[in-house]
Amino acid sequence: MIWSDELLLGHPAIDAEHRELVALIGALLSCSEARLGEHLQAFTEHASAHFADEDREMAETDFPAAGCHADEHAKVVASAREVQALVAEGDVAIGRRFAEELARWFPGHVAHLDSALAHWLVKRRHGGAPLVLRRRLCATA
Ligand SMILES: [Fe+2]
Ligand SMILES: [Fe+2]
Repeated sequence: MIWSDELLLGHPAIDAEHRELVALIGALLSCSEARLGEHLQAFTEHASAHFADEDREMAETDFPAAGCHADEHAKVVASAREVQALVAEGDVAIGRRFAEELARWFPGHVAHLDSALAHWLVKRRHGGAPLVLRRRLCATA
């Protein structure tokens, strides 16, 4: 998985953490089998911290519909811990399948749940919607 500016939300801290998550998912997809466990550990730690940041922001600002967003975070962390245990027992294939699932899941989570949160936080802080500048990729013949 590689970063795409389509994932930018205009909240610098959240965007920075998402870049890191994308890099960690990419590493899970491409690393050697021997290093899968260690990359899974890094993903779980980063995801837990990032989700905790978002959950705290939702709680502190009375974000509406925080429940389903926080539930999704909790499910991903719980799955990551289960998969970590299985990979530690030698089931590398489940680790790769989990990485593929994460790569499919993450853009939708960003588009549907994190975007609403980023919009809410930026609007509260600055009184307007987030400004997002995306690089445009131009194909040359
Ligand atoms: Fe989230
Ligand atoms: Fe997020």
